[in-house]
Amino acid sequence: MKITSYQQNLLSDSERLTAFHQVISEKSKGIIYDLGTGSGVLSSWAAPLSRFVYAVEKDPLTAQIAQKNLSQFKNVSLMVNDAKSIFFPEKADIIICEMMDTALIDEDQVPVINSVREYLKKDGDIIPCGVFNGVEAVNTNINHPCYQEEETPHTELMSKLIIYDKIDFKKYIEPEIDYDIIIPVKNEGTVSAIKITTFTLLTPDFICGPTPMMNPPLLIPTNHLKVKGGENIILKLKYIMGGGLDTIRASFEAFS
Ligand SMILES: C[S@@+](CC[C@H](N)C(=O)[O-])C[C@H]1O[C@@H](n2cnc3c(N)ncnc32)[C@H](O)[C@@H]1O
Repeated sequence: MKITSYQQNLLSDSERLTAFHQVISEKSKGIIYDLGTGSGVLSSWAAPLSRFVYAVEKDPLTAQIAQKNLSQFKNVSLMVNDAKSIFFPEKADIIICEMMDTALIDEDQVPVINSVREYLKKDGDIIPCGVFNGVEAVNTNINHPCYQEEETPHTELMSKLIIYDKIDFKKYIEPEIDYDIIIPVKNEGTVSAIKITTFTLLTPDFICGPTPMMNPPLLIPTNHLKVKGGENIILKLKYIMGGGLDTIRASFEAFS
């Protein structure tokens, strides 16, 4: 396959690929949409097991690569367009959509799924089918949202992980998040950021990740608040799914 370095990284993430390969092999049938097809790898697994695949990629250069990689399959049509604005001529048995990003903030997953869900057959499935989002209070030295990597400054965990959202892609998703979340603090010290962790549901029974290229943990700076072990604090958290990292607002308040 011919690929860019970004796609090379996506294709080197064996946990991500193994999970998708397993579910696509089990579920593929009939009419499939592969939205955000990228290199075309997921379509190439679905095509031999289905009647027809509509592969959609909005980036023209990426689409050229996908076109080459998928040319051997006579039952794949590549559409170079934004998946939100496509008219599909037939409904889908399976919608594959891998435009994942931590908490679904910085990619088009939610707007795309909200717009194509009407094309899913009644007994159809979406892969992945949803996410769980969790948050922890942390103390770390960052001044802008960043994904946690080896070079990220030391991060002290100040609370347990609280699952604050469960999103089912088969139901309408309200893109604007505005939550007050109670966080039980573990240690005495300062909280200065949050860490969001997203777990991907490939199927309702198959939770995957985070993996290096699918939803790596996201660190977001907050105000600094001195805390005691055992106390509760309030996290005020806002963002828009599909709106980008600039839409995030996160701050801590004492619980009264
Ligand atoms: C994370 S990559 C995944 C690529 C491939 N599905 C895979 O698993 O290797 C997401 C792809 O979706 C494409 N994309 C993002 N938003 C899109 C949209 N609104 N419509 C169509 N493609 C989109 C990007 O250009 C990118 O190629």
